[in-house]
Amino acid sequence: MGKALIIGAGGVASVVAHKCCQNPEVFEEICIASRTLSKCEALRDKLQGGKTKVSAAQVDADHTEELVALIKKEKPDIVIHVALPYQDLTIMDACLETGVDYVDTANYEPLDTAKFEYKWQWAYREKFEKAGITALLGSGFDPGVTSVFSAYAQKHYFDEIHTIDILDANAGDHGYPFATNFNPEINIREVTANGSYFENGKFIETEPMSIKRVYNFPEIGEKDMYLLHHEEMESLALNIKGIKRIRFWMTFSEKYLTHLRVLENVGMTSIEPIDFEGKQIVPLQFLKAVLPDPASLGPRTKGKTNIGCIFTGVKDGKEKSYYVYNVCDHEECYAEVGSQAVSYTTGVPAMIGAAMVMTGKWKKPGVYNVEEFDPDPFMEALNKFGLPWQESFAPDLVD
Ligand SMILES: NC(=O)c1ccc[n+]([C@@H]2O[C@H](COP(=O)([O-])OP(=O)(O)OC[C@H]3O[C@@H](n4cnc5c(N)ncnc54)[C@H](OP(=O)(O)O)[C@@H]3O)[C@@H](O)[C@H]2O)c1
Repeated sequence: MGKALIIGAGGVASVVAHKCCQNPEVFEEICIASRTLSKCEALRDKLQGGKTKVSAAQVDADHTEELVALIKKEKPDIVIHVALPYQDLTIMDACLETGVDYVDTANYEPLDTAKFEYKWQWAYREKFEKAGITALLGSGFDPGVTSVFSAYAQKHYFDEIHTIDILDANAGDHGYPFATNFNPEINIREVTANGSYFENGKFIETEPMSIKRVYNFPEIGEKDMYLLHHEEMESLALNIKGIKRIRFWMTFSEKYLTHLRVLENVGMTSIEPIDFEGKQIVPLQFLKAVLPDPASLGPRTKGKTNIGCIFTGVKDGKEKSYYVYNVCDHEECYAEVGSQAVSYTTGVPAMIGAAMVMTGKWKKPGVYNVEEFDPDPFMEALNKFGLPWQESFAPDLVD
């Protein structure tokens, strides 16, 4: 059918590339491009030889003109952006200039402010409409699958959804005292930020990690989970009509939180540049350099993730609750594609989102979040490509 240009060659990009190769009817060709050519070439060498033609290229995605030159040379039908959120806008600009569709998994964050929100990318709506191309935002797991789950619940099970609790549990153990499962800089910026939840038309801010619950997760067991701000709440608050409350919860072990607290207290998580031996360095970027590379966690991680959404609302005048979730096993992911489950659960939906656009199922000029499209073909593809989901119609609710 066509060609995808994958930007990034980290943990998530590796899964996207593997999954595109498992779907050669749609992805006849892929090109993997990031700053470090050797990583792209290593991935290409691993994947070559199947039905999908694989190539590698070098690009600094902070520079639109470099991206435009690469897109003109490679002529992809879609760009799958799985580098970092800092590059969202430069890549969207390049897609506009070349008339190519766009998919990502995380909303734009300015490098110097730990604040992620959709306003910068939603500002491109008119430009994408006029150019006749599609930008699909947030097609990872959360955001991504959690948003598709919400659209699916809305379509099939509720007249009105009143509350959504998004539950992200990782019961994986990589054996290190402290490491992050995806890019450490992005991960630590996310978990040290203030929490927030949506209630009765507005967002309420909370101190970081100040609201805790214990939940008994299917196939994982009891875990401590903490309320965080998370980007899909912003779009779901607009797209799920009648919604009264949305909360996002993520599990953290006591060990992880203790390390994080110490790192914060000594200033290592700061994004303010400091002077070190005559050179400006950002403490968080230095910390990233000494922490294990998330891509290296794959062979060491055991256990499972469970990510899903619990909905309450009404159907035919009756109160109803519904839980839909996916359980993913770190070791099985590694055996299949050489990555742990956090990269896997992000990379599979990124490939599916791109396939939805390429096959025309989700092709519409403009900028969209995933819950704005028909969830059914995406839900079907999740079962087919390694993220089967399960349902419960009498779940334990989060108080
Ligand atoms: N929605 C979700 O569920 C979800 C979950 C997890 C992660 N994510 C998102 O997924 C993305 C990738 O995460 P990851 O764990 O794969 O991160 P990662 O392992 O750190 O990989 C990031 C990749 O981006 C490349 N990159 C960084 N800056 C670049 C630039 N200026 N130009 C070109 N390439 C650049 C890096 O290349 P070099 O190594 O050469 O610098 C690296 O290959 C992140 O945006 C993260 O927020 C989303």
